[in-house]
Parts: sequence; structure tokens; C-alpha cells
Amino acid sequence: MSEKLKNYLPKQYKKTEQLPINHNYLRKQFSNSKAIFNDIKKLNFNTDYTLGKKVDEVEKKFAKITNCKYAVGVGSGTDAITLSLKALGIKNGDEVITPTYTFYATVGAIVQSGAKPVFVDISNDLNIDIQKIKNKITSKTKAIVPVHWSGQICNMSELKKIARKYKLTIVEDACHAIKATRDGYRAGHYSNSACFSMHPLKNLNVWGDGGFIVTNSKKMYENLLMQRNHGLINRDTCKIFAGNSRLDTIQAIVASHLLKKLDNITEKRIRNAKVLDRELSKLDQVTIPRRFKNSKHVFHIYVIEVKNRDKLKSFLISRGIDAKIHYPVPMHLQPAAKYLNYKKGDFPISEKICKTVISLPVHEFISLNQIKFMINQIKIFYT
Ligand SMILES: Cc1ncc(COP(=O)(O)O)c(C=O)c1O
Repeated sequence: MSEKLKNYLPKQYKKTEQLPINHNYLRKQFSNSKAIFNDIKKLNFNTDYTLGKKVDEVEKKFAKITNCKYAVGVGSGTDAITLSLKALGIKNGDEVITPTYTFYATVGAIVQSGAKPVFVDISNDLNIDIQKIKNKITSKTKAIVPVHWSGQICNMSELKKIARKYKLTIVEDACHAIKATRDGYRAGHYSNSACFSMHPLKNLNVWGDGGFIVTNSKKMYENLLMQRNHGLINRDTCKIFAGNSRLDTIQAIVASHLLKKLDNITEKRIRNAKVLDRELSKLDQVTIPRRFKNSKHVFHIYVIEVKNRDKLKSFLISRGIDAKIHYPVPMHLQPAAKYLNYKKGDFPISEKICKTVISLPVHEFISLNQIKFMINQIKIFYT
């Protein structure tokens, strides 16, 4: 059991990494990393191994590209959410609303802050159903954590109205949504903070784990700087007891180099998704990602709803396509959520989506020929 727990991630990737059309593009992406290594070597001279100039630099760049006043580099996207909630004073006994259709980390982060996660169903854009939030608000509700699923920003102006009315804070899980916009809105603009992940398979990725929090509040920014670094305001003064979630300086260097490529990465993903949309929308058995006017969906993953999902997945894998399920079980039905006393049928749309979604590789290293091949294979499956 302990071996399984220890190493399932690399093993999981090994299972599918032989497939020619793959979700994993890291070998290609980092085949020439001389410039990154040169900067890392310099660390041996200035010994800025924790925080320092390189972390400052990348934070400034990140704040600029998100159009926010402040960015704080942290250990992961998960920590970004946890530390944001802590900085907002969320604690034991508070309730935090979030969609049940998300990645485990959103909920794990809420639980780590001490709060109880309260789930809401999604709507057909795979984001939290904003109309259903009101019914879940109690006197204990303190915050909402919306998730911009797969890179599509939620309807933040509607969400903001609810937050204002009920005096709730908003921490955005923008781990999929770097560079995404909706109605001119970018994650972090109108919320208390927005949280990003730089996990190796995210649109902006590093050589391990890393994350950013952006905010426009100086008070929040200063609290976050303490939250990520033992609550220290100087070497000898601890203002709040906190953990250590500093963005690793080596990862800050990698991120700095990758930021230069982010526009290109984003545009290629959008282009690939457009081609997939155009052809797959012709099939009755497939529902393509919902699009909104004035929305820039950045496609961290390309998620479609399909008939006969599990058979399609096996078929695509047999044809060399790394089709994946993001994710098969909603959060309220996970063993970890047992104490929250939800049951099957509580969130019917999320439950249905978990049975019908499939993700196709859409990243910047997928060629148009590979996209055509994927489309053809899906057509063959349904004829
Ligand atoms: C929606 C969502 N939120 C949060 C996270 C957590 O990010 P990290 O892996 O950097 O902790 C992820 C990571 O995959 C995610 O998909």
C-alpha cells in the first residue's frame, strides 16, 4: 500500500506516455533548456536559494500579465487557495461554497483552512451554477471559491452581486485559467484573490510544483507574504503562526522563462480547440465546450460530453490517443466527503457530467494533422 501511495503519479504517466497523441508534452517542451540552466547555475554564486531577486522578478511579471497590483509566489495552486482563505480570516466552523465538479485540491484547500466545504451543482458550462448558490448560504457562510473549469471564466459579474449582497469573500480557483478573460474580466480583478497553479501540465508550468496568488488589496498582499513564510515580518518577529509555502527559487526561474512563451501557448491551444469545435460540433453524439460572447477560454483541457464515453475512451487509446477523464467522481461522492453526508442524486448535473465527459489533448505541441486524426477516429467510432 505505501509503495502505491508513494509513486502512483509517475506510474500513472508511464501507462499512457507511449501513446503518440499525448496529454504529456514535457519532453518536447524542455528539450532545450540551456537558458534556464544558465540562470539556475547563477544561484550557486548568489545563493538566493529561498525567495530573493528571482522570485521578486517573476512575481512582478505575473502581476503585470494578470493586470493585478500584487502577485505572491507560493508552493502550489492548492496552497494558493488555502493561504488566501487563511489570509481572509476563514477558520474552523466557517462554511465555504464551491462546485462539487472540480479537482480534489479545491476542496482540500478549503478543508485545510479549517472550513466546511458546501457544494453546489454546475451548469452546462461546467462551472458553478450561480443561481443555485443562494440556497446554500447560511449564517456560517464566509466565502465562495468558484473554479474556472478548463480555462473558462465563470460569470463573475453575477457571482459578485451575490457576494456583495451576502457579504461574502471570493477566492477564485483560477488554476486552469491563466490569461483567460470574460467580458474584459481577468481572474483577480473583482475578487479578493485569484489562485493559479504551475503544475507541470498546466498552461504555465514549472519543473515541479508552484503557484501564484494575485490580489489588488495591499492588506491581503501583506498578509499573504506572511502566510507563505512562517508569519514572519523580519527574522526575529513572528506576527502570525503560519507554514512555509514559498515559491521555490528554481521554479521561479523556470516560470520566468516560460512566461515569455505564454501568449504563444495560449493562442495555440485556442486555435486547436477551434478546429476540434468546428468538426466535432457536426456529430450528434458529441457536445462541444460551451462558448460565451466576449469570453476567452484558454483550454487547459479540452472537455467534451459524449455518448458511450467509456467505450470511446478505450477506442481512442487503442488508436494511440491519450483520452482522459477529468474526472469520473464528483467531490460529494468521494470517500473523503463522507462526513459531509451528501448522497447520490444531490447534484445531478455534476453526476451526469462525470459519466459523460472526456478530454482530448489540445496543448501547444499537438499538430493540426494530429487533431484531424483525432477527429477522424471519433467519427469512425460513431459510424
Ligand atoms: C481546478 C484545480 N484547482 C487546484 C489545483 C491545484 O493545483 P496544484 O496541483 O498546483 O496544487 C488543480 C491542479 O491540478 C486544479 O486542477
